Amino acid sequence: MAVRPLLIAHCRQLLTLRGPRELRRGSQLAELGVIRDGAVLIRNGRIEAVGSTRAVERHPLARRALKFSAKSYVVLPGFVDSHTHLIFPASRADEYEQRIAGATYERIARRGGGILSTVRKLRRTPVQRLYQQARAWLAEFAVHGTTTVEVKSGYGLNLAAELKSLEVVRRLHREGPLELVPTFLGAHVVPPEYRRRPQRYVELVVRRMIPAVAAHGLAEFCDVFCDHGAFTPAQARLILTAARVCGMELRLHAEQLARTGGARLGVELHAASVDHLERINRSDIRTLARSNTVCTLLPGAVFHLGKSTYAPARALIEAGAAVALATDFNPGTAPTVSMPMILSLACTQMRMTPAEAISAATINAAHSLRRADRLGSLEPGRQADLCGFELCDYREIPYYFGTNLCRWTLKRGQAIYDADGQIPG
Ligand code: NIG
Ligand code: FE
Repeated sequence: MAVRPLLIAHCRQLLTLRGPRELRRGSQLAELGVIRDGAVLIRNGRIEAVGSTRAVERHPLARRALKFSAKSYVVLPGFVDSHTHLIFPASRADEYEQRIAGATYERIARRGGGILSTVRKLRRTPVQRLYQQARAWLAEFAVHGTTTVEVKSGYGLNLAAELKSLEVVRRLHREGPLELVPTFLGAHVVPPEYRRRPQRYVELVVRRMIPAVAAHGLAEFCDVFCDHGAFTPAQARLILTAARVCGMELRLHAEQLARTGGARLGVELHAASVDHLERINRSDIRTLARSNTVCTLLPGAVFHLGKSTYAPARALIEAGAAVALATDFNPGTAPTVSMPMILSLACTQMRMTPAEAISAATINAAHSLRRADRLGSLEPGRQADLCGFELCDYREIPYYFGTNLCRWTLKRGQAIYDADGQIPG
């Protein structure tokens, strides 16, 4: 029997994010395509019609649709979290406490803690445990309105453990309900066994790991942590070039701890995204603005590390760069799954407007994952990924912080989170 269509009607505010098919830049970021008393008609997981409730109710399918009145909700596309390190074995609350006492992230890393402490644990952790923990976190993503999650490997740092992580990502994606986008981050840091010969590790990544990951079809993107204490731009270039040859698209962690030239390298290699960017200068901003590389800002990492240098979001937007926002969910620098919290930080700490932050967390993030033809906006033909916040006005999404006001989340038209059990079907 055919599944009945679903009509979400009388949305207090419906943020459609309809607009140009290209990356949103400059003043376009502020245009959310808001419809008051809006409606979305969904069939077979796709959006059939969007508009005012009166107009959508006249659609031929609307009469036999299951109907849900979203009177008390602001409704928007599900968040696209385009940068996470979901597959990790345990928190690093011990290092959190050390940092509060004055140790820096870099110093902890030099002493063998940081990323390497997570690597040691992940290698010992049974795959089933990694899977169960990640699955539990994914449910939390959905509770906060997220429907798509990019996931990086990078805590294995040998072939077996990197494949083990990416296989967990594949299984979670296949099982659903969230959509996962896999990224190979074998070049996160140099593992201890290669400490004295880092170039040999680069060769291992290029010659063995990338071809194996590609042969198993385990990653769509390849990322490199290009920074002090990690990989140089020259090493990143070798790795990313090899990944491109194997059919992967590119992303980069760039200019987080120091300015090393990673952002420019990303532009030169036509990376889909360069991420962090706290240390970029004016000339980098001009280069990024002229490119189609998305600037993915991660204010959660700055906040959690207790730092004060946020990425220059205003200057990027004003120069015409395409800005996205993501959580960077990871145990070292950003232990949060909450995109609403990231929006709060983007607004208060980087002076993005609520509308700009919402565009950055939906349509531009979808672009950075090469999925903007399907995700990130509510338009006929797009996938029915949306969420409802019990609020009067979309600006209240970042305004209220520390309380989750997302009440329901749909993936492909199905409720994957429904706090009050109201979504029919
Ligand atoms: O994006 N900067 C590199 N990678 C992560 C941190 C990973 C960790 O500390 O475990 C980040 O901030
Ligand atoms: Fe990261």
